[in-house]
Amino acid sequence: MVKVVVCGAAGGIGQPLSLLLKQSELISHLALYDIVNAAGVAADLSHINTASKVTGHVGKDSLAEALQGAHTVVIPAGVPRKPGMTRDDLFKVNAGIVRDLAEACAQYCPRAFILVISNPVNSTVPIVCEVLKKANVFDPKRVFGVTTLDVVRSSTFVHQIKPQFEPHVNRITVIGGHSGATIVPILSQIKQLSFSAEEIKALTQRIQFGGDEVVKAKDGAGSATLSMAYAGARFTNSLLEASVRGTRGLIESTYVHLAGNPGAESNLRSTGLEYFAQDVELGPEGVTNVQTLPNLSSEEQRLVQVAIGELKGNIAKGIGFVANGA
Ligand code: NAD
Ligand code: LMR
Repeated sequence: MVKVVVCGAAGGIGQPLSLLLKQSELISHLALYDIVNAAGVAADLSHINTASKVTGHVGKDSLAEALQGAHTVVIPAGVPRKPGMTRDDLFKVNAGIVRDLAEACAQYCPRAFILVISNPVNSTVPIVCEVLKKANVFDPKRVFGVTTLDVVRSSTFVHQIKPQFEPHVNRITVIGGHSGATIVPILSQIKQLSFSAEEIKALTQRIQFGGDEVVKAKDGAGSATLSMAYAGARFTNSLLEASVRGTRGLIESTYVHLAGNPGAESNLRSTGLEYFAQDVELGPEGVTNVQTLPNLSSEEQRLVQVAIGELKGNIAKGIGFVANGA
């Protein structure tokens, strides 16, 4: 039974994510931090009849108290997209928010697992890692970019055109990063079904730009929150199952720092990148094994090269932000 902190807990993702985490029997203390409204959200959730204690922490002065003793910190703090924006457009606001939260984690809970939801994930994960490196508390096994929504969307969208594909049972590996062309679903892994080239093209495009569908439909009122809360809770629960209960063999696609992670050498060589999303086996210390990239179709290989080109810039931007103290 462990303490989990949600930073940005009063937001569109933070509230339903906290609701889902309140149902975990592995969490003894759910600490909800936000710059506004976290006390109300905590009071509300605290009436739910599961064993965990819920506390609310509002404003910077209460961040230390929220983080102390944390086993896991989930970060959905920051602004979401509006129509016409890319995730990278969020960098100028969210980079500073994520950096400040990472600095507080380095100080108050340096061994906590940190799960980054705030966009642009391709750059905010490097920001967290660079902050932890600066503070000499970095462990690459313990920082994760949450890309689970791409995995969730992949099985949903495949099921919608191939109803025999059970979306709850069948997991599709998604590699690369979390924005447009950097999202590369490995549909060639689905051996039990056949797809035409047009179907693969349309599915890939839909998975890569699934976030835009929601941004457009919400029409200025934000981006995916409920499906993200579901995906964020799924990833958090997998990590808790592996690290607290000791369940073996749990695999999720996630964006991690490759160097220093067990099993990552091959992907480090083949991508030439410091950070990449791929299947990762979770265990007591976080990453237990970064899985080597699966066999890719020629089209998937092409998509990976495009993703690598974009990721290079995204990663450099995150690293540069911390280095230059912007
Ligand atoms: P939101 O605006 O509804 O909520 C964000 C919350 O963060 C607000 O409650 C706000 O008060 C809080 N916040 C702002 N600054 C903070 C700080 N310094 N410390 C703590 N909390 C702070 O936004 P949302 O819809 O919940 O989205 C949050 C982020 O998640 C966005 O960046 C969005 O792009 C991203 N997102 C990522 C994924 C993914 O797949 N990784 C999916 C959906 C959204
Ligand atoms: C998503 O994939 O839904 C999120 O990254 C939010 C967005 O900006 O699309």
